[in-house]
Amino acid sequence: MQKRIAVIGCGGFIGSHLLRALLAADYEVEGWDLDDHRIGDLLRHPRLTFHLHDYGDPDSLAALSKHSTVIQLAALCNPSLYNTEDLRVIESNYLQPMRLAQVLAKSGTWLIYFSTSEVYGRTISSVASDVGLDVSGHGDSADTLHEDSTPLVLGPVGARRWSYACAKQLTERSLVALQVSDQLEWTVVRPFNFLGPAMDYIPGIDGNGVPRVLACFMDALLHGRPLELVDGGTARRCFTWIGDAVEAVMAILANHDKSLHQCFNIGTPENEISMADLAFRLHTLFCEVNRLPVCELKQRKISGLEFYGPGYEDSDRRLPDVSKAKELLDWSASTSLDDTLRKTLQWYVTHYQNHDIRSQL
Ligand code: UGA
Repeated sequence: MQKRIAVIGCGGFIGSHLLRALLAADYEVEGWDLDDHRIGDLLRHPRLTFHLHDYGDPDSLAALSKHSTVIQLAALCNPSLYNTEDLRVIESNYLQPMRLAQVLAKSGTWLIYFSTSEVYGRTISSVASDVGLDVSGHGDSADTLHEDSTPLVLGPVGARRWSYACAKQLTERSLVALQVSDQLEWTVVRPFNFLGPAMDYIPGIDGNGVPRVLACFMDALLHGRPLELVDGGTARRCFTWIGDAVEAVMAILANHDKSLHQCFNIGTPENEISMADLAFRLHTLFCEVNRLPVCELKQRKISGLEFYGPGYEDSDRRLPDVSKAKELLDWSASTSLDDTLRKTLQWYVTHYQNHDIRSQL
C-alpha cells in the first residue's frame, strides 16, 4: 500500500531535508509552505503535491484531515523575532497549531509536532546562581534536560524573548489536553540546534534581519568582518547534523505505537560547545576550507540588548538527555561536531561563492 503523509513547512530548512528523505523512501507527500526556494527541483516530483500557501484556511485544514499522519514544521522560529514580532510569533507557534490540532483530533490523524529545545528555557544552575545557590556539586545532572522530568523555566513576561518558548509550550500542553478530551494522537519533537546545508540566509543577499548564530558567523567570515559574541559568547549549544535529525523523524514514523504521546529530545549532547569556541572553530575551518593561512580571529563582544534589542534573554545551556529516543526509537546521532561544522561551512562557502560578497564591502 502507498505510504501517504502531509508535511506542513516542507520548504523550510528541516522540512526540505525531510521531504527529500520521505520521497526517497517512496512516500507520497502532500506539502504546504510559503516558500519553495529550497525545493524547486522537487516541485515536479510525481509523488509530491505542493501548496504554496498557508495551511490555516478551511480547504487546507480539510485536506490535512484526510491524512492519517501530519508532520507540522511551519513556524516563525528565528530568535530575532521573539522580542520584536511576538504577536506573530505567538500566532504561528500557538494559535495556528492549536487550530490544526483541534481539526486533527476530530479526524483521528496522528500529529507529529515540531516544538523546540527552547521550551526548557534556562537551566536550574543559572536560576540557582541568581538566588545565590551553588549546584555545581551536581555536575551536569542539574543541567541535563529530560523530556518528562525537567521543569520548563522561562523569564518574566517583560522579557519578550520567551514569547516563542511559551507559545510552543502552550501548544505542547494543548496536545496533552486534546489527547484527554478528544483522543488526539500526537508526538512532539524538540530539536536541539540542527545544522546543515540551506539553513538560514545571509543578510542582504537572500534574506534580511538577524539569522541564527551559524549564519551570523558565516556572514561575518564571508565578509571578513568580526564575529559578534552576544553577552560574551558563554551560552552553550549542542549542534546536531541535519541528516541525523531526519533519521530521527523516520524512526518516529516507523514506530507509531512507541512514539505515541511522547516528547522526544532530538539532539547530540557530545557536540556541546560555547559560542566563543564555536566562533574559533568556524574561523579555523573557514581558513582550512579556503586554503588560507590561519590568521587571528576577528571578534567582538556585544550585549544582548545591543544585538537583539530590549526584552532579549538567553538559554544559557541546552544539554539534552537523549536516552528516551535511544530506548524507544533506537536512534542516536552519529555525526561529530567537527564533521557537522565542516559539511555545513563547506555548503555556505560553495553556495555563496558566486555572490560577489567582498565587492559589497
Ligand atoms: C534558536 C530557536 O529559538 C530554537 O527554537 C531552535 O530550536 C534553535 O535556534 C535551533 O536552531 O534549534 P538559539 O539556539 O538561541 O535558538 O538560536 P541562535 O540564534 O542560533 O543563538 C545561539 C546563541 O548564539 C545565543 O546565545 C545567541 O545569543 C548567540 N549568538 C547569536 C551570538 O553569540 N552571535 C551571533 O552573531 C548570533
